Amino acid sequence: MAKKLITTPIYYINAAPHIGHTYTMVAADVLARYYRELGNEVIFTAGTDENSQKTLQAVEKTGASDAQAYANEMTGIWEKTWKDLGISYDKFVRTSSPEHHATVAAFLAKVQASDDLYKGTYEGLYCVGCEEFKRPDDLVDGRCPLHNAEPEQLKEDNYFFKLSNYQQPLLDHIRQHPEFVAPVSRRNEVLAFIERGLEDISFSRPSRGWGIPFPGDDKQVVYVWSDALVNYLTAVGYPNPGYEQWWPANLHLVGKDIIKFHCIIWPAMLLSAGLPLPEQVFAHGFFTVAEQKISKSLGNAIAPSFITDKYGIDGLRYYLLRDIPFGSDGEFSFDRLHSVYNADLANELGNLVQRTASMITKYMGGKLGKVEAHSHDASRYHEALANLRFDKALEDVWERVKGLNQMIEEEKPWVLAKEDPEHLTEVLTHVVSDLLQISGLLLPFLPVAAVKIAKTFEDGVVHPEVGILFPRIEDKLSLG
Ligand code: MSP
Repeated sequence: MAKKLITTPIYYINAAPHIGHTYTMVAADVLARYYRELGNEVIFTAGTDENSQKTLQAVEKTGASDAQAYANEMTGIWEKTWKDLGISYDKFVRTSSPEHHATVAAFLAKVQASDDLYKGTYEGLYCVGCEEFKRPDDLVDGRCPLHNAEPEQLKEDNYFFKLSNYQQPLLDHIRQHPEFVAPVSRRNEVLAFIERGLEDISFSRPSRGWGIPFPGDDKQVVYVWSDALVNYLTAVGYPNPGYEQWWPANLHLVGKDIIKFHCIIWPAMLLSAGLPLPEQVFAHGFFTVAEQKISKSLGNAIAPSFITDKYGIDGLRYYLLRDIPFGSDGEFSFDRLHSVYNADLANELGNLVQRTASMITKYMGGKLGKVEAHSHDASRYHEALANLRFDKALEDVWERVKGLNQMIEEEKPWVLAKEDPEHLTEVLTHVVSDLLQISGLLLPFLPVAAVKIAKTFEDGVVHPEVGILFPRIEDKLSLG
């Protein structure tokens, strides 16, 4: 059995999840479910990035008793959000956990053994929003463009990592493995960045009593990104025996804001520690509201439950992955969400299942006899998923749905019921058989509806108790 390790970024805990984070999680969840369906053994990882300066700021602001108590409470919110959305992760890594501390210590010992760490002084800028050391040319009008905030000016002792040692090995790897960074626009961005020259980077910060102590110096803690990236190894139990079965990761799914960390710093860290590099880092685009990245700091965050309360989990999943090619930016729109839900889910798919079930009930006493799922060629769907083109995979399924609606219009079962009962059985059997295949193809995307479709026709008998898949919704949501 093939193994697949699929990871998602671990999220900062200073605020609650919004639909931007949900986007990454839903995409990873679709892939994890898809690969499990195909018979792979999957580890899908998620987690929280707790050891940041943002956490300490939030503790001060909220008056929480201490950082660990605050982290416990916030991580609870993140885990509950993903559970409520049915996100099927297998491992949840908390960076304040003893397991993660131990993995980071073991990992840094390898980097140390490669002579890639040294002590120095950092003098420069730091954006707490990005938790990143910034260069003046990263700023626009003196502000971080992602957080619209002025960075802090720092002068502090740090341990440095010899990133500059890895410039050539990284260029070689990326050139020899065209699939390593995707989509190709991101690959070009990463190559251009490396070609401009890599400087050594800070790997520690002065300790403020929170974070992972830097090995051999308890006045310093590990810089939050140097600790966070290692979570992918914590998830598979590094350095304990057995992790080799899972490492390297098959896919790191990330947003385009964090490719430098995942495509440059992380691979350099792995090379330094003598570990193999992940097969692929795929960077998706941003969801924007009024053309700004959604974020708590910009005050435009939408909680996923705000949408699922009205449109259901499957409604949100469908909208997130159908409307925007994965990899590109897209504007979140309540109008689009509403019309896509009513047109594609309620009318086209929901109605098809509903009318098929009622015709079997009305014309055949609810009994069709045992029907197997069709196995029409689905190579377009599989190819789309291999390239993370969720929109294309769904397009393929919707062509099938539309084809069946059209077939019903042309065959007119309501006429056949009077004139040709034999052909009526043939037509309805064909439709149900296709619907069962569609249900299988939709299982990774719409886990609730797909199961309902199969249940509606289970054992060749209509089960009206399953109910309507997607009730039509009249009034729209708005941020109001
Ligand atoms: N903690 C780091 C990641 C460490 S991974 C080793 C971090 N966390 S974050 O909470 O800021 O969120 C990171 C990820 O959330 C982004 O890379 C992206 O995957 C997702 N998104 C956050 N806002 C988003 C949008 N508005 N749109 C799409 N994805 C977004 O960075």
